[in-house]
Amino acid sequence: MALLKKIIFPVAGLGSRFLPATKATPKEMLPIVDKPLIQYAVEEAIDAGFTDLIFITGKSKRAITDHFDSSLESFSNLDEKKVSLMNEMNNIIPKGVSCIYIRQGEPLGLGHAILQAKPVVGNEPFAVSLADDLIDAAPGVLKQLVEKYEETNDSVIAVQKIDKSDSNKYGIIDSNNFDSDLVKLTGIVEKPDPDFAPSNLGVVGRYVFNNNLMDYLEKTTFGAGHEIQLTDGIKLMLKQNNIYAYSFEGRRYDCGSKLGYLMANVDYGLKHTELGPALKEYLKTKI
Ligand code: G1P
Repeated sequence: MALLKKIIFPVAGLGSRFLPATKATPKEMLPIVDKPLIQYAVEEAIDAGFTDLIFITGKSKRAITDHFDSSLESFSNLDEKKVSLMNEMNNIIPKGVSCIYIRQGEPLGLGHAILQAKPVVGNEPFAVSLADDLIDAAPGVLKQLVEKYEETNDSVIAVQKIDKSDSNKYGIIDSNNFDSDLVKLTGIVEKPDPDFAPSNLGVVGRYVFNNNLMDYLEKTTFGAGHEIQLTDGIKLMLKQNNIYAYSFEGRRYDCGSKLGYLMANVDYGLKHTELGPALKEYLKTKI
C-alpha cells in the first residue's frame, strides 16, 4: 500500500458567511483562543504523519502563506521569554515537512480546488482537510482516518450524525448497512433537501482518497451552486471503487458558521490552562 504523505488544504474559499471579518482576512486565519484555524488543521495533519502540505490558496489569502514562514531574524532584540515563544512560532512546520502553495485562479468550487493539486499529488493517495471544520479528538480525526484507510486500502470519508433538517448544509451519504462505525458507501448527494436526504450521516471536512479521485474530478461537470463539487467527483468514483464512511470519535465545530465559531472559542477557552478558570468564573456571571 502506498504511504500517505500528501494532504490538501483548500483555503481559497471567500468566507462570505463571515463578512465583514473576512473582507481582508482569510477565514482560516480566524483564531480559536490564540491560534488560527488553519494551524489546528496543520498540526492535526503533521501529528497523523503527513509531510507534504499542499495549500490551495487564492485572492486575499497571503496571510496563510506568511503564517507558516519563520522569521527568526526579526526578534534579535526580544527578551528570553519572548524569544522562546517566537522559536515555538518558527517551528510550527518541523524539519522534514514541506509547505506547497498553489493558486486556484478562479473560485469554481471545492472539487476544482482539489484538482489544482493533481500535478503535485501524482500517483499517490492523499488526504483533504477543510480547516473550518475544527475537530477536537484524541487521537486526531486524520489519524483515525489513516488507520481506517490502512485497514481497508480504500478511500475513507469522515461523517457524523446530523439533524436531518440540516441536511442541506452537508454532503449526505447512503449505504446498505448502517450497523457499524465504518460503512460502505452506496451513494452520496451534496446538500439535499431534508425530504430527499438518504440518511442522517453528513460528511465532515476530512477525507483520505486513492489518487484516482483526480481522474473522476476531471470528468465532473458543474453541479450545485454552479461549482465543481467534490461530492459529485466522489459519486463518479463510487461507480468503480469502494469508498467507506467512518463515524469518527470527537467533537466537531462548524467554524464556517458564526455560532459554531463562538462555541469553539468558549470550549477551547474553558480548556485553556491559563485562561480557563477565569473564563469559567466570567461565564457563571452571565447565565
Ligand atoms: C463542504 C462539502 C460538503 C461537506 C462540508 C463539510 O461544504 O461540499 O459535502 O459536508 O464541506 O463541512 P461547504 O461547507 O464548504 O459548503
